Amino acid sequence: MSTGAKNALHRVGYWERSLIPYRNGSRLMASVPSLASTLQQQLADALTAALPEAGTADPLLRRSDRADFQANGILALAKKLKGNPRELAGKVTDALPAGQLIKDIEVSGPGFLNITLTDRAITETLAARAADGDRLGVPVAADAGTTVIDYAQPNVAKEMHVGHLRSAVIGDAMVQILEFTGETVVRRHHIGDWGTQFGMLIQYLFEHPGELGHEGGEADGEAAMSSLNRVYKASRVLFDSDEEFKARARDRVVALQAGDPETLALWQGFVDESKIYFYSVFDKLDMEIHDPDIVGESGYNDMLEETCRILEETGVAVRSEGALCVFFDDVKGPDGNQVPLIVKKTNGGYGYAATDLSAIRDRVQNLKADTLLYVVDARQSLHFKMVFETARRAGWLNDDVTAHQLAFGTVLGKDGKPFKTREGVTVRLEDLLDEAVERATAVVREKAEKVGLTEDEIVENGRYVGVGAVKYADLSTSAVRDYKFDLDQMVSLNGDTSVYLQYAYARIRSILRKAGEARPVAHPELELAPAERALGLHLDQFGAVLAEVAEGYEPHKLAAYLYQLASHLTTFYDQCQVLSDDNPAAVVENRLFLVELTARTLHQGMRLLGIRTPERL
Ligand code: ARG
Repeated sequence: MSTGAKNALHRVGYWERSLIPYRNGSRLMASVPSLASTLQQQLADALTAALPEAGTADPLLRRSDRADFQANGILALAKKLKGNPRELAGKVTDALPAGQLIKDIEVSGPGFLNITLTDRAITETLAARAADGDRLGVPVAADAGTTVIDYAQPNVAKEMHVGHLRSAVIGDAMVQILEFTGETVVRRHHIGDWGTQFGMLIQYLFEHPGELGHEGGEADGEAAMSSLNRVYKASRVLFDSDEEFKARARDRVVALQAGDPETLALWQGFVDESKIYFYSVFDKLDMEIHDPDIVGESGYNDMLEETCRILEETGVAVRSEGALCVFFDDVKGPDGNQVPLIVKKTNGGYGYAATDLSAIRDRVQNLKADTLLYVVDARQSLHFKMVFETARRAGWLNDDVTAHQLAFGTVLGKDGKPFKTREGVTVRLEDLLDEAVERATAVVREKAEKVGLTEDEIVENGRYVGVGAVKYADLSTSAVRDYKFDLDQMVSLNGDTSVYLQYAYARIRSILRKAGEARPVAHPELELAPAERALGLHLDQFGAVLAEVAEGYEPHKLAAYLYQLASHLTTFYDQCQVLSDDNPAAVVENRLFLVELTARTLHQGMRLLGIRTPERL
C-alpha cells in the first residue's frame, strides 16, 4: 500500500479494527466490510444475546425506504419461539453494542426494526474503500477455486454471427468478474474446427491449390473471411453437382480423421486463415483473446476413443442400433421414445458429444477445475444437460466438481424475430459493430466542440462508445432472455445505456479537473445531505453486488448496479453543488471525495463488463 493510502486509512480510526489485510501479488490490501454486513453481524450477535435459544438467526436485513435498513427477521423468530415480537425487538435493540455505527433504531409495526446509520460511519467506510486502490475494499473470496470457462467459440471457415457476439461479451465479463473476486480462471475457446464439412473444403483446396489466402497482413480479417467464403462457395458448388468430387471429399474426411499429414496441413490452413478473421473481430470488440486458450474441438481427438471406452466399460453408455448411446429417463422425443446422447455414431464417427465429454475430462483432470462454466446459446441446453449428466454418471463431475451452462437467449430484430438483414440473411458481426461505432461517433461529435475533443479523440471515443453500447445492451438484461437489437436505443444518452454511464464518468472527471487546488478529502465529521447518503450507501454495496454476480453468473446485476449508481449521482448533482463558492472548503473536499470514489467505482465496474470509460466525452 502506498504511504498515501496508509495515511488515509489512519484517518478512519473507527474502521481500522475491521480491516482485514491481505496480499494480492506484492500489494498488501484491505478488504472493507460493507456497512450492511457489519450491521447484519451486530444484529445477529444481539439476537443471540437477547434470545440464546434462537442460536444463530438471520436478522434478514434489507435496504428500506423509511430508514437506511430494515430488519425483518425478528418477527418470524419471535413467533416461532412463541415470544412477543415487539418485546424481542426491544431486547435486540438493547443488546446492540454502543458505537458509532447506528444513529437511530426504532421498533416499528408488529416487530420490525428500522435502522439509520450515522453519517460518520458512511463517510469512514467510504474513505477506507477509497484508500484501497482499484480494489475499492472488495474482498477476495475465501472459497475461491478454479473455473474453466468455455466462451467465444466461433466456427472455422464460417462467419461469426450475433450468437457468437453474446458468448464473447458475456463470457469476457464473467472472466473479469471472477478473476476480480479471486477465482483462478482458465479460458477455453472451444472453436468448431473439426467435422465432416472439412472433407469438402480440403478436397477442393487439394485440387485447386493456392486458392486459400489473401493479400495484406494478419490484421486483414475481412480479406481472410472473403477468401474462406470463396473457397467454401466454390467447393459447395462442386460437392452438390459432382458425384465423383463428393466421393473424393468423403475419402478426404477419412484421411483427416486418420491424421494424414498432407490433409492435416491443408486443414491447418483453414484454421489459420479463420484465426486471422476471428482476431480481427475480437479486436473490433476490444477484447483480448490469447492463442493458447483456443483449444477447439480438434484438440480432444486423442481422447475420444478412451472416453467412449470408459463410458462403455462402466455401463454409462450402451450400444443401440450400432451406435454408442446414453439414455435419460426424462429426455424423450415427440413419439414418447427416449432420445439418447450419441457418443459414437453407427459409422464409427465421433460427434459434438464425444468432444464435449472429453473436454470435461481434460478440464477436470488436467486443468484441475472445480467449476466448469459454459457460455453457450440456450438452444444448446438439452445437449449440455445430457453431457453433464453423463459426466456425473461417469464420476467426472460430482458434488465438488460441478458444471453450469450460462445460457443466453436469442438476439432479435426490431420486429421481434431472430435478427436478420432485410434480405433475410444473418447479419455479419463486423457490419453490426461498424454501424454501432458510426452512430456512436456521430453522438460523440455533436458534443465534441463543447468538450474540446481533437479528431483523434472523437474517433477513439466513438469506438469506445459504440462497442460499449453493443456490449452493454447484451449485458444489461438477464442473459437467458432474448433481447432486441436496437442501435437507436443503444446509443441513446438517456436511459439504461452504456453512454449514459460513460457520460456520468466523464462528467465527474471534468469536475475533478475544474476543481483546481481543491482535492478530494473525506470529512467524517460532516453531516451528509440525503442525496449524499443515498449515493454513499450505494457505493458501499459494490463488493456485495460483485459477490452476488460471481456466485450466480449474472453480469446484468452489475450493469443494474452501475446504472443505479449513475442515477444516484444524477440526483446528487440536482441537490448538491460540488464546486460552489458558497460551500465551505471541507464540504467541497468531501463532495469531491464522494464523486471521485463514484468515478472509480464506475470505472472499475465498467472495466469488469469490458467497457471503456473515456476521460472526456
Ligand atoms: N462452436 C459452437 C457454436 O458455434 C459453440 C461451442 C460451445 N462450446 C462447447 N463446449 N460445446 O455453436
